[in-house]
Amino acid sequence: MKDQIINLKNEAVGEILEAKSLEELEKIRINFLGRSGKINSLIKGISQLPAEEKRAIGQLINDTKKTIEESLQQTQESLKIKESKTEWLDITAPGLRPAEGHLHLVSEAISEITAIFSQLGFHRARYPEVEWDWYAFEGLNMAENHPARDEWETFFIDKLQNKKYGRGILTPHTSSGQLREMEKYTPPIRMINIAKCYRRQSDVSHSPMFYQFEGLVIDKGISITHLKGTLDFFVRNYFGPERKIRIRPFHFQFTEPSFEVDISCGLCQGKGCNFCKEGWLELGGSGMVHPKVLKNGNIDPAIYSGFAFGWGVERTLMMKSGLKIEDIRLLYSNDLRFLRQF
Ligand code: PHE
Repeated sequence: MKDQIINLKNEAVGEILEAKSLEELEKIRINFLGRSGKINSLIKGISQLPAEEKRAIGQLINDTKKTIEESLQQTQESLKIKESKTEWLDITAPGLRPAEGHLHLVSEAISEITAIFSQLGFHRARYPEVEWDWYAFEGLNMAENHPARDEWETFFIDKLQNKKYGRGILTPHTSSGQLREMEKYTPPIRMINIAKCYRRQSDVSHSPMFYQFEGLVIDKGISITHLKGTLDFFVRNYFGPERKIRIRPFHFQFTEPSFEVDISCGLCQGKGCNFCKEGWLELGGSGMVHPKVLKNGNIDPAIYSGFAFGWGVERTLMMKSGLKIEDIRLLYSNDLRFLRQF
């Protein structure tokens, strides 16, 4: 039966390619795909097969049918153009539209995130990806050999050394932009720093290069309420009004107090399901800027306070309702079959 199906496919595709007119093509279609066509008589034959073969043969017939349909459609399109040329010419007819691409999912997410925060007066910043230890660690209250550094599986650059700022690194988080922003501006500060980060990790939810977006607000009288309100605003606008956030106590060396931010699961609306377990998904870190960090940025913690948060762009994107991306690395595989779906 298998050979018979394959022969049928070859026969059909051969005839389709040879077809000279739409009329002829229609006859071929009826002969193969029509109600009493060859494919249907194959399908009827399935019932006589032993049970264990039924599935595989059924699948093969389906694939064959699909191939025939596709090649019919292709030939039909080219015959249409050919026949219309001989019959009429309309120079005002709209042309064939060239295939149109779109921005990469991550680029789209970055513009969307930037636009949402700009409504609150945040300006988009970018700071070096090849950074000094000082900005990513030491200045953020993580001295050399501090165990907290283990979280950031950092790439060091042997050839880069600076007396004042320490070793050269590929920045493992956008928090390195906090001190740079403080050096550049005096408060009030409202920064959204979106940049590439690098860590030595690769699995379904980690890629060695990824993006983070880092918010930093410094002004007089800034409190946790402002942090929560800002995150709430972002989540409503990015994910939709039905999603909620909660903040949970956590620890970072550069914020005090520190929080982990969770968002209610988009699949079960926070009730708890297989995907999220307890109804919440972890988005990323946040907290009130540590007084030492403000001092390192030449800002007086007796006058000013601030909050910061830093989340992964891809992670945030992948939590959008309806998007089911099972491996973060697909985003960077440049596989058009993946990218064209969106
Ligand atoms: N930089 C932290 C991380 O990469 C996140 C963070 C940013 C936490 C800002 C607190 C404040 O996990």
